Amino acid sequence: MKRKLIAGNWKMNGSLAANEQLLKAILAGLGQPVCQVAVGVPAIYLSQCQTLLAGSAIELGAQDISAHESGAYTGEISGVMLKEFGVRYVIAGHSERRQYHGETDELVAAKVQRALGCGITPIVCVGETLAEREAGKTDEVVKRQLAAVIHANGHCISEIVVAYEPVWAIGTGKTATPDQAQQVHAVLRAQLKAASANADRIQILYGGSMNAANASALLAQPDINGGLIGGAALKAQDFLTIIAAAA
Ligand code: PGA
Repeated sequence: MKRKLIAGNWKMNGSLAANEQLLKAILAGLGQPVCQVAVGVPAIYLSQCQTLLAGSAIELGAQDISAHESGAYTGEISGVMLKEFGVRYVIAGHSERRQYHGETDELVAAKVQRALGCGITPIVCVGETLAEREAGKTDEVVKRQLAAVIHANGHCISEIVVAYEPVWAIGTGKTATPDQAQQVHAVLRAQLKAASANADRIQILYGGSMNAANASALLAQPDINGGLIGGAALKAQDFLTIIAAAA
């Protein structure tokens, strides 16, 4: 069986003091995790978190990557720069970036390509809005989003991680039921299999109000290979409980 991945997405939260307290508390309770663990931190704290996580079982993640290699792109951060700070994962195409920063399927696909080119594993987020779900378009939307990434990355897609994050479940306390999530994960798994002979090894995470109480039921689904955790990743005990649920 695939090892599960529990990845925190801190979003725009934290401070030097809060990050230190949070990571120290997580590390103190972590032991030898059976699953893979990562935290996606604000870029400005990568250096701090790299130091705090050195030698630990927690991998470092970033929340965004430039689609460009280098040059006149004010405010952007390149994959090579992320790599210098020990970044192992980068979140690509989170719905908040699609929604508030106008990221298109094509831009997300280009970011994924850049990450793979730098040896950073992209966590590619896909997910439908409530209106799209109610219109019966869930499969169509997530397949379109993933297809752009597959199209741009060919056989390299066996190196990605996918996160199914229904937009209506993010930060709302409304989680997809294990059945709802599994159904979409199965659709994504089939799409990946059709695109790559090695698709079996791709981890598909669920994200959207996953917490200490609902993690076990979601993680028990056959095609749910981990979680992308927002709010609950900011509380050491909750994050540890989710990690334990993935064992
Ligand atoms: P949430 O966020 O767990 O707070 O819903 C998940 C995410 O946006 O990755």
